Amino acid sequence: MKIKVKIENLKKVYTGKKETLEVLRDINIELWENQFVSIIGPSGCGKSTILRILARLEKEFSGNITINGEDIKTSSYRPGYMPQKDLLMPWRTLYKNIVLPLEINGTLKDVEKYDVAGLIREFGLEGFENYYPSEISGGMKQRAGLLRTFLMGSDIMLLDEPFGALDAITRINMQEWLLKILVEHKKSVLFITHDIEEAIFLSDKVYVLSDRPACVIKDLDIEFPRPRSREVLSSHKFLEYKDALLKALL
Ligand SMILES: Nc1ncnc2c1ncn2[C@@H]1O[C@H](COP(=O)(O)OP(=O)(O)O)[C@@H](O)[C@H]1O
Ligand SMILES: [Mg+2]
Repeated sequence: MKIKVKIENLKKVYTGKKETLEVLRDINIELWENQFVSIIGPSGCGKSTILRILARLEKEFSGNITINGEDIKTSSYRPGYMPQKDLLMPWRTLYKNIVLPLEINGTLKDVEKYDVAGLIREFGLEGFENYYPSEISGGMKQRAGLLRTFLMGSDIMLLDEPFGALDAITRINMQEWLLKILVEHKKSVLFITHDIEEAIFLSDKVYVLSDRPACVIKDLDIEFPRPRSREVLSSHKFLEYKDALLKALL
């Protein structure tokens, strides 16, 4: 198995004009090929900062990070990234937002190969292709953002609370869809959530961060076989995992 993302002794301090804020004190996280890894931790502890560093939006940090075995500072590899707040462009229709990665890659002619129409249906966005972001719900915007991230075509996906604005039923559908594409398309996923049950259900491994400045205070392997069904949610093992994560967080 190949290592896709390796974060070693990552530290991050935000420096303002007057104040400095130590956000990440010592972060060590690994993501292996075809793995699904979640990060949970208190609000404001620095979770989004970690993904922004991996997406290269934040260039100042110390520590070592490799992506696909290459130093992030010199590698040209671009992981798929979905920010916590969806960044759909308000002047583009939903469809034009979704196919933006293909437009950027110059592969817009491949919409059929990627079965964009099928994916739009699967994401429950059919019929809304010509709507503008201001005309659709927060959940739909989030689903469009996830679909766009998927179409970036990278085998590493960085997802920052992608299901935060979804209602329970849509959330369950999207979780199952994500597990399916992980298998079908061989993706490796680094996933941020504040939902412990979601982290356990989806992940091979869960990292728990401390309050800011964040350190990893626990990592837990989730040993349910794949493909997984929702039956695991009512198993004894599930409760044990949940208990272990809650103890680390409280
Ligand atoms: N660009 C920035 N400049 C200064 N402080 C920031 C910046 N971005 C985030 N922060 C601060 O860093 C801390 C961690 O933020 P974030 O990574 O978004 O946390 P989380 O995603 O865990 O809620 C917060 O206190 C936030 O206010
Ligand atoms: Mg965040």
